[in-house]
Amino acid sequence: MKDFEQLSKKHFDKQANIYDETNTFYYSKFPKISCENVAEILKNYNYEKLLDIGCGTGYLIRLLQAQRQAQYFGIDISPNMIEVAKNKSKDHANFTVGSSSALPYADNTFDIVCCIQSFHHYPYPDKAIKEAYRVLKKHGLYILSDTGCGGIAKHFDNFIFKHFMRSGDYAVYSSKDIEKIMIKHHFKVIETIKLSNYIYTVIGKKQ
Ligand SMILES: C[S@@+](CC[C@H](N)C(=O)[O-])C[C@H]1O[C@@H](n2cnc3c(N)ncnc32)[C@H](O)[C@@H]1O
Repeated sequence: MKDFEQLSKKHFDKQANIYDETNTFYYSKFPKISCENVAEILKNYNYEKLLDIGCGTGYLIRLLQAQRQAQYFGIDISPNMIEVAKNKSKDHANFTVGSSSALPYADNTFDIVCCIQSFHHYPYPDKAIKEAYRVLKKHGLYILSDTGCGGIAKHFDNFIFKHFMRSGDYAVYSSKDIEKIMIKHHFKVIETIKLSNYIYTVIGKKQ
C-alpha cells in the first residue's frame, strides 16, 4: 500500500505557503465553507478545550478565537502547515505536528474535537475515530466536515485516489458512511448538515 500519511505530509508541506490564497475548490474553497459552518455551529456551545485534527494553516481556530475564549489545540501531519498556523495565529494556540491515528493527548481531555476536510486523507479511518473518541470528554462533540459522495462517483473517486493521485487522498465517504463509522465507534450521531451536494458536516456525541 502507498504510504498515504507520507504523501499527505509531502503534498501539504509544498502547499503550505500558498494554501490559504489558492482558492480552488479543494484548496481552500471547500475547507473554508466547512470551517465557517463549524464556527457557526459552535456559537451555540460552551466549551473550554477544543482540538482541531488536520488543522492545516489554522483557519478554523482563528475563526473560533474571534468568537470565544477557550484553549485551542491543532494537530497536523505537515510541519509546514503547522508553521503557517503558528505564524498566523495571533492569540495563543497549541499547534503540534502529528498524526490523526496517534494523538499525543490524554484520554478525556477535550470538550470538542473537529476534523475539517482532512478525514479523506486518513489511511486508518477507524483508528482516527477511535482516537477522537478517546481524547474527548464524556458528552463531548466530534464534528467532522468533509467533501464526499456516495454511489458510483465514490467508487470512481476512490479508484483514482488509489491508483493515480500523489496527494495523500485515501478515500471519500458519503455522510451516511461517516454516520455509520461514528456509530460503530460508539458515538451518537446528533446532526448531519448538507452544505452542498458534496460537502457535509456530521456531529457525533461521546456517550
Ligand atoms: C485539505 S487540508 C484541510 C486543512 C484544514 N482543516 C482546513 O480546513 O483548511 C487537509 C489537512 O489534513 C492534514 N492531514 C492529512 N493526513 C493527516 C493525518 N493522517 N493526520 C493529521 N493531519 C493530516 C494535511 O496535512 C492537511 O493540512
